[in-house]
Amino acid sequence: MSQPYIEDEFRNKLDLDLWKRIFRFALKHKRLLIPLTSSALLLSVVEAFFPFATKVAIEIVEQGRPVVEVWKPGAIYLMLATMLSVLVLIFIRCAGGISHHISHDIKRDCFKRLQELEFAFYDAQPTGWLISRLTADCDRLSRILAWGFLDLVWGVFYVLAMSAVMLAIHWKLALVVLSTIPPLIIISRFFQKRMLLTSRQIRKHNARITASYNEGIAGVKTTKTLGRETRALDEFKGMSSDMYGASVRRAMLGAIYLPLVMTIGSIGSGLALWYGGQGALNGAITLGTLVMFISFAGNFFFPINQIAMVLAEMQGAQAAGERVMGLLATYPKIKDSDNVKERLVTYEKQAREDPNLAPDGYPHIINEIEFRNIGFSYNEKETVLHDFNLTAKRGQTIALVGPSGGGKSTIVSLVSRFYEPTKGQLLINGVDYRNRSLDWLQGQLGIVLQTPHLFNGSITENIRYGRLEATDEEIVEAAKLVNAHEFIMKLDDGYETKIGEGGALLSTGEKQLVSFARALIANPQIFIMDEATSSIDTETEKLIQDGMRNVFEGRISFVIAHRLSTIRSADQILVVQKGVIEEQGTHEELLANRGHYYELYVNQFRRERVRAELEAS
Ligand SMILES: Nc1ncnc2c1ncn2[C@@H]1O[C@H](COP(=O)(O)OP(=O)(O)OP(=O)(O)O)[C@@H](O)[C@H]1O
Ligand SMILES: [Mg+2]
Repeated sequence: MSQPYIEDEFRNKLDLDLWKRIFRFALKHKRLLIPLTSSALLLSVVEAFFPFATKVAIEIVEQGRPVVEVWKPGAIYLMLATMLSVLVLIFIRCAGGISHHISHDIKRDCFKRLQELEFAFYDAQPTGWLISRLTADCDRLSRILAWGFLDLVWGVFYVLAMSAVMLAIHWKLALVVLSTIPPLIIISRFFQKRMLLTSRQIRKHNARITASYNEGIAGVKTTKTLGRETRALDEFKGMSSDMYGASVRRAMLGAIYLPLVMTIGSIGSGLALWYGGQGALNGAITLGTLVMFISFAGNFFFPINQIAMVLAEMQGAQAAGERVMGLLATYPKIKDSDNVKERLVTYEKQAREDPNLAPDGYPHIINEIEFRNIGFSYNEKETVLHDFNLTAKRGQTIALVGPSGGGKSTIVSLVSRFYEPTKGQLLINGVDYRNRSLDWLQGQLGIVLQTPHLFNGSITENIRYGRLEATDEEIVEAAKLVNAHEFIMKLDDGYETKIGEGGALLSTGEKQLVSFARALIANPQIFIMDEATSSIDTETEKLIQDGMRNVFEGRISFVIAHRLSTIRSADQILVVQKGVIEEQGTHEELLANRGHYYELYVNQFRRERVRAELEAS
């Protein structure tokens, strides 16, 4: 399904504090920011002096001075024009550079934070959406920070420079012309905001129409079979007329706005002409001054329009800013404690020299994992695990079975410290794992999930992802151990076969085997398989099962399986239901018990036999 169309809400109030925090990203690039600001500033002053050159030229003619003297204003003009081009060149380079750097910085910070955040953070938000949104948000903010900032500085200083020149030359006439600024501001703000909102509406209708068009074509059979053509057509007509309405509104707004502000400019020029004209007649004002004021009056529209546009854009992008800054203000809750950090520093050198020592100074070898009176809940609403106790020793395989939602995946998420217990302790060799290094622990995990994620690349590359420094021989060895070697050798390019986006060119079972090898190559001390064999055929399952025996040796393994045949040889089988251990023991013990496991097993066995008989007949 395509992404729903989402447009951020328009904030009526500009949150200056937020924008100040966002602006800090620009402050990091002072080498570009200083020339950008200075060039915008200078540009505004240069532009404000153009009418001044006109004034000088007119005064030369007015005072009947020799025409050759016109070279002076001519030279001023030439100088201003040259400065203008140079300044424009500088600010385009700087703004482009800043926009690029800021976008990169914000993205880098956001993605770094996303990597650090624990699983609980992702429970609340869908990751794909978050990432696509963030990319767009970062680009948008960087554009506003560079180009919007440039326009703001230029606009504000242009208005100030023009006002200053006018006030310096004739303050009374200046005040007359400046009286047009407040209505210009009010009208520009009003229209810019409305125009932005209608443009968004147009985009929204457009997206809906495209989506409905696609759906209409894809679903044309269903529509026809259900006799719903008329209804579908009506819906489409409705959307088109909405779009038409919005487009007309946008065009109308533009058609009113421009003449309106132009009129205000003309009124300003008119006022200057009326008041200044009287002065010119009685000789208090030169003709040059009058012409200069008239042209200033017409120029105020440009910067004010620009400022209003940037402010509207900032209001529109505020939600994006809140999202980005909100993410950056979210810190991971699961992280090394101060005590662990100290130990990491203390034992750094010793651990590097002694392979039996983990970086946190405790033994590297995991001999035992103990769940001691563990309680856990994802949220206040329900408790998922109640007083859970389990001890797993090195070399053992713990199988978790039971109904959906019982808490099996939760148990392995706790072992992986993707979540931490809300009650009780999880001990590694008798030490609470919150006193151990998080990085070290997660480096000891090998996890195979139901839908393994493989990357676009060769099989070798995918397996090597488990341990980047693994040699080709080690990769083949790992593949052999998990029984993947045979199928890999049958592929056209063997280990160098490209497996496509997400491993699309492999079957689920083959992907499973590759991800199994990838988990193994890291030589993890804790092995986790969550439903890893539930969607594959019996033949591949057999391969994995045989592989598992090799893989599990010397590790602590947790295997979650719906298919009970996979876990028959486990050292302990736990039937987990509603967050408690219903039964616990070996396969034989549990069968002898004639309890829940027995029932599950017999039912599954019967079902499979029936299926086998059906297939055979
Ligand atoms: N991220 C989460 N946020 C909130 N509740 C969750 C979350 N993950 C699981 N739960 C809830 O916790 C309970 C246990 O879920 P868990 O995934 O551990 O079950 P499971 O035994 O692995 O089930 P299945 O066999 O379907 O995989 C369920 O009630 C589930 O709805
Ligand atoms: Mg599960």
